[in-house]
Amino acid sequence: MSKYNFDEIIDRKGTYSSKWDGLDRYFGTKEVLPLWVADTDFAPPREVVDALNNRVQHNIYGYPIIEPEHYEPIIKWSKKRYGYDLDVNWIINTPGVVTGLCAAIQALTKEGDEIIIQSPVYPPFFSSVTNNNRKLVENELINNNEIYEIDFDDLEKKASSGNAKMLVLCNPQNPVGRVWNREELQRVIDICIKNNIIIFSDEIHGDIIYKNKKFNSLLSFSKEYYDNIIVATAPSKTFNVPGLFFSYVIVPNQEFKNDISRILTNLSISPGNVFNIPASVAAYEYGEEWLEELLIYLEDNVDYLIDFVKERLPQVKVVKPEGTYLAWLDFSELFESQEELRNFLINEAKVGLNDGTTFGNKGNGFARLNFGCPRSVLKEGLERIEKALVNRNNK
Ligand SMILES: Cc1ncc(COP(=O)(O)O)c(C=O)c1O
Repeated sequence: MSKYNFDEIIDRKGTYSSKWDGLDRYFGTKEVLPLWVADTDFAPPREVVDALNNRVQHNIYGYPIIEPEHYEPIIKWSKKRYGYDLDVNWIINTPGVVTGLCAAIQALTKEGDEIIIQSPVYPPFFSSVTNNNRKLVENELINNNEIYEIDFDDLEKKASSGNAKMLVLCNPQNPVGRVWNREELQRVIDICIKNNIIIFSDEIHGDIIYKNKKFNSLLSFSKEYYDNIIVATAPSKTFNVPGLFFSYVIVPNQEFKNDISRILTNLSISPGNVFNIPASVAAYEYGEEWLEELLIYLEDNVDYLIDFVKERLPQVKVVKPEGTYLAWLDFSELFESQEELRNFLINEAKVGLNDGTTFGNKGNGFARLNFGCPRSVLKEGLERIEKALVNRNNK
């Protein structure tokens, strides 16, 4: 028996939750079961809640300070779980990973430079490039029977254009759930190093990895690549605290680090606040056992989902993700257009999933389902889809 109760339903309505209170705005109705935004419906580790409660109860919320010792827990975590030595001098604290990405784009590339992303991928990768007037270059992943692979020939070609300055890597990959293996990552590194391309590796989902899969941070590769590598991570996904806005951008190249820090300073973005500093310290210091239990629960959830789809939604295609709490569902056999799929999910099944096309053109025919919820909620969502399909076939 787990000492954590991930089956517990915690009502999130009316808590300023984008996932639960933002349904109307995104789906045009409140009547959908939210299985979208990538946070979970689980309470974080008890120690994180206690750290927050203690800080709230202090009653004074003055300007904060973040000291090098506050980074000790993440340094120990990185060493213990992923085997690399994180130097405190490489860390920049940002409110979000995407803030770090935008700052790195502004600091290290120029307007008009090409930035490569590997779609389908997390939507802000697109907007971070285009909002900053850089040229978006897509190295689309290959869908091999729902198992996604990197198109290395295409990457070689695009990386050698002479104008490509940065690759934004998503590892583990949102939405397709791949945890890139060492061989794949080594090939990506080799291509980028040869063409003098900076790799911004978004590893925010790096702690959510399933059995027999291994997460390889880019910082676990040879130090000879460190000058070209930036890694971004956060306690957000791991401990379900994304609303606290606390992320780490890890930049071993000190010139790059100064350039990125300057952008943040110029916007007066200062590190941490009185809540997210103690919460992050507590999460990495005391949250490991909770995480191990969470991973078991999430893996049971995804196994349930895969079996359900195989047996009861056979025209939907999906494979088990290697990491993340996100499933990438292929509905293309069932619907002729994305509009039809969207209408089916929202108005007939009454489930709120992310529209596949927001992840790029390759997402046409797809929807992303977040299974970071109590099993009963997941079951309800899948049954709603099943029932709506039956109704449709009976018409
Ligand atoms: C791959 C990826 N990167 C970044 C984020 C968001 O990061 P942040 O809120 O720290 O900007 C998400 C959230 O879903 C994500 O999936």
